[in-house]
Amino acid sequence: MQRFAWNDSLSTGVPMIDAHHKELIAAVNDLAQAIEQGQGSNAIKKLIMFLKYYAEWHFDHEEKCAAKHQCPMADTNEKAHAAFIETFGNLHEQYRQSNASEAVAQQIYDELSRWLVGHIMNIDTEIGRCLRQPKTVLPTS
Ligand SMILES: [Fe+2]
Repeated sequence: MQRFAWNDSLSTGVPMIDAHHKELIAAVNDLAQAIEQGQGSNAIKKLIMFLKYYAEWHFDHEEKCAAKHQCPMADTNEKAHAAFIETFGNLHEQYRQSNASEAVAQQIYDELSRWLVGHIMNIDTEIGRCLRQPKTVLPTS
């Protein structure tokens, strides 16, 4: 299974957001390792739960920053996050119903890794560009 290494194309230029993304990528890589090494369903379950909650927590943080800065991509970002949470939720449910099937864990890994890299590169880098811009102060008169 492929592993992800951090590179500049994934950088948003916002240290806090980059730190969250690095944490997510590290956990995705840990999931790949747990599946490959046959670490068992407990280890895999823990990683999936971590990814689910960490992703939701991070999305919330990122959305609040983007809304505060009135970023043009804020709405697109929120919709992408919501769609992803739904996909992840469905896969998680499938995983539970399959009694922790490794094939479903593999599917979660495939979906997560593909989505995360694409989303960071296409949307979060734009959000980062907006967040790095000094806010325009409009004259009051
Ligand atoms: Fe995002």
